[in-house]
Amino acid sequence: MNSSVPSLKSFQARRRKLARALAGGVAVLPTAPERARNADTHYPYRWDSHFHYLTGFHEPDAVLVILGGPQPRSVLFCRPRDPALELWDGMRVGPRAAVSRYGVDEAWPIDQLDRRLPALLANRPSLHTPIGADAGWDARVTGWLNAVRRQVRSGVTAPDTLCDVRQAVNEMRLVKDAGELALMKHAAAISVSAHCRAMRAAAPGRYEFEVEAELLHEFRRNGAEAPAYPSIVAGGANACILHYVENRAPLRAGDLLLIDAGCEWQGYASDITRTFPVGGRFSAPQRDLYQLVLAAQQAALTRIKPRAPFTAYHEAAVRVLVRGLIDLKLCRGSVDGVIESGDYRQFYMHRTGHWLGRDVHDVGDYTVGGRSRPLVPGMVLTVEPGLYVRPGPKVPKAFHHIGIRIEDDVVVTPSGHRVLTDGAPKSVADIEAWMAP
Ligand code: GLY
Ligand code: MN
Ligand code: MN
Repeated sequence: MNSSVPSLKSFQARRRKLARALAGGVAVLPTAPERARNADTHYPYRWDSHFHYLTGFHEPDAVLVILGGPQPRSVLFCRPRDPALELWDGMRVGPRAAVSRYGVDEAWPIDQLDRRLPALLANRPSLHTPIGADAGWDARVTGWLNAVRRQVRSGVTAPDTLCDVRQAVNEMRLVKDAGELALMKHAAAISVSAHCRAMRAAAPGRYEFEVEAELLHEFRRNGAEAPAYPSIVAGGANACILHYVENRAPLRAGDLLLIDAGCEWQGYASDITRTFPVGGRFSAPQRDLYQLVLAAQQAALTRIKPRAPFTAYHEAAVRVLVRGLIDLKLCRGSVDGVIESGDYRQFYMHRTGHWLGRDVHDVGDYTVGGRSRPLVPGMVLTVEPGLYVRPGPKVPKAFHHIGIRIEDDVVVTPSGHRVLTDGAPKSVADIEAWMAP
């Protein structure tokens, strides 16, 4: 296993697989557009995950066409070489080099797309493209279809079936191959070091953004492209805001700090949460809730194995959390009664995890045929139980404003699962030892 870019052959294999699924149809996939921030300044560019999964091509203004049938072909449209523009914005691959470097059968300048697309669609039974994702793209697709329809009297037929190509690619992306798992392992390792560093940097009087800077430093110095999502660095009560990203408050002795952060490496995400005491030692109520979330995570992990339904680990976590909430007098009644009534949701209002891959909330259906999807080796998911206690009637004061989440990235293996992120301290003893001066 290695952590570098997958081989050209793995991208070709993905395109061949998609081509088989198309039967004789044609797929057309654009990459993401560049977005202007103002004047001639753009937001940092991030390619479209589907497009990049099938090509490895990282420039904007590119479209992949895959022709199915007995002789599948892939055609890439991309920006032409342009020495004047390259002086300002960096090198372009250009169509000629794209053929050898990315293993496509043909490549053309992107400005020939409208001219060439109708011929590529002619006499194909179906067109597979992202539908409804972007109104401008939908209009262009309609334009190409109408251009083919106008040729009907010369004996040409236009595709009469329009499919959303994302469904087929989602299913391919859901189960990761060995090359992808190597990249995800590397992303996880960088994020583990970032959490270790951040834990030691936190101290009373420092600011959340200072700790965020430590995470970013570790991501970048290891070559990660960027955070896979905005980092959450939430001290004290801020941890009870699930998507807190302001990261501007000072850290206070006696509070917990919740950090949910992960980098993107070669297009693959990691997603880790750790919660620890700013001052290095848990108080008794903090420890009680922390141990409970940790026990819920451990129970959840035991349910991750091939053939187990996706929901099983969430259900296992909820059962442990509810038992503990009753014991701590945060909920009243029997375990089954509290699960049934949903009373626990005032403290635990999210699911216990999601698919992880090129996107932090990765693609793939969670149910199949109306039932929770059975896990298979190669799937990657997060396991992230939490508790978030806001003041309320009958909520013991000692627990007010405590927010805790513990999140790890887990691969389903033939014999069960493997945790990619357990290098970041997690038990009370390990956290306190790591933070000890
Ligand atoms: N960091 C986003 C999530 O945990 O789902
Ligand atoms: Mn997550
Ligand atoms: Mn997360």
